[in-house]
Amino acid sequence: GNPGEVTGLGVPVSDLRRAPGCSGPLPALKPTDSHTVLIRTDLLQPGEVPEPYPSPDQLQDRWDDTHVKLPCSEHNLFPVDRTVRLTHTHTHTLSHTHTLTHSLTHTHTLNLDAILKYNTGQAKGWNFTALHVYCKVKTHLLNLCISALCVQPIPLLRTQRCRSLTLSQEQVSCLLANAFFCTFPRRNSRRAEFSNYPDINFSRLFEGSSQRKQEKLKTLLWYFRRVTQQRPAGLITYTRQCLQRLPSWSSSEKQFSKLRISCDGSIEDQGYGMLQVDFANRFVGGGVTGSGLVQEEIRFLINPELIAARLFTEALDDNECLIITGAEQFSRYSGYSDTYRWDGNHDDQTPRDEWKRRCNEIVAIDALHYRNFLEQFHAEHMSRELNKAFCGFVRPGVQTENLSAVATGNWGCGAFGGDTRLKAVLQMMAAAEVERDLMYFTFGDADLLRDVHHIHTLITDAHATVGKNAHTHTLTHPLTHTHTHTHSYLNSQGVCGACPSVIVSPLCFSCRICVQF
Ligand code: AR6
Repeated sequence: GNPGEVTGLGVPVSDLRRAPGCSGPLPALKPTDSHTVLIRTDLLQPGEVPEPYPSPDQLQDRWDDTHVKLPCSEHNLFPVDRTVRLTHTHTHTLSHTHTLTHSLTHTHTLNLDAILKYNTGQAKGWNFTALHVYCKVKTHLLNLCISALCVQPIPLLRTQRCRSLTLSQEQVSCLLANAFFCTFPRRNSRRAEFSNYPDINFSRLFEGSSQRKQEKLKTLLWYFRRVTQQRPAGLITYTRQCLQRLPSWSSSEKQFSKLRISCDGSIEDQGYGMLQVDFANRFVGGGVTGSGLVQEEIRFLINPELIAARLFTEALDDNECLIITGAEQFSRYSGYSDTYRWDGNHDDQTPRDEWKRRCNEIVAIDALHYRNFLEQFHAEHMSRELNKAFCGFVRPGVQTENLSAVATGNWGCGAFGGDTRLKAVLQMMAAAEVERDLMYFTFGDADLLRDVHHIHTLITDAHATVGKNAHTHTLTHPLTHTHTHTHSYLNSQGVCGACPSVIVSPLCFSCRICVQF
């Protein structure tokens, strides 16, 4: 920024809590009815790679509608979707090995090499990085792919069920290697069986030759290179959180919490140790295995262990979120969307918790996709977003002082067309309700920095509560006027009925502050 330009406002960032400093002690890691643990908890040693549980010779094969269908299952008898060229028939572990080896030396190598060769003419860095990396990791990747690291059936995280899964990073890498080789059965077409799950096989990533795909592949291949060079030694927990009881917003007496707002930096860099928001799709990971390349997809690329969630996480409902604890960052990036570039190795120094997970908590919450800008100001849509953010931020049973701040930003305001001022206020309300402070990244928007800080100051100076806030609207035209209206005054066209002198036209909304106050 220019000298003298304000890049941050609100409380000093040192006032906000981060993990592990703020965290309370964890209970001993052990499997329960709602928590599947795929490793030997009795053998967890610092710095050592966790042992799968049960041991690899005790494969427990499950082929039903509550578990992931694994490539090595005996039931994986049938040729899956023949239209996908990277998929092969395999009947059990042995032939899985054989078929993969075969496919690698024949079809697979040819296909991938063709893609890679085709790209060398276009991408200068490609020849020296991704192609090179690919050749080196190929054999290791294959070994990873067929290693029986996941022997316990992996339950699906199905809709409206709270459930956690804890896997080792190495097990996750094995799942991702299979995704790379597109071996997950029944997952290559949106069949009825998995129609409510994200795609997991990477086949669409190999289609076409766009720069986006090249950069995405480079990022993922870097991950595979890293995990095949040195076995990762930690654990990761994936938790589907569903709430049966949601707050009564209009009667909430919670005060607004602290805010730090910055136009520099990003959630993943400056938000370390905080609860980091993934601006998600209800199919977690969104377009990561296709051509998508905005906040969520980028996060899933630089922390590829997030991608494994797509294997078992059913689409999120309005009262649900997915919490991922322990995913490691392997790559750096520059740019965004079309300008996204893999920018080399990232050496993640995030400390580990007692469960050997990186102290990195990411929550996937999906905003609504607004095609009509004014829709989002309808009461039911605002409630939906409040409840979704609340669901992502709340941690039932955890003491307030053990909760980190929430690191977020323009959730739902890029691809999903939401209004940044409105979403900032809704997230402030949700954070207030769960008594967590907020670190807000405006992603370079200096006007937004000032406006959101201004709104927060207005609210806190008036000692407004969440409930009082939810009752009435203040329509704030930046710098020129502030009007207070009751809830019903925004009609379905977004026209304000309370204040005849101000017509809340789309134009007025384009300066876009609709504060509930
Ligand atoms: N840190 C802080 N802010 C960021 C960052 C970052 N690293 N990256 C982007 N922003 P978007 P959505 C800001 O469009 O609207 C995906 O396909 C930046 O201002 O990713 O919720 C998902 O899978 C950006 O415009 O989120 C969903 O399908 C804004 O955040 C869909 O997009 C919104 O980022 C979700 O779209």
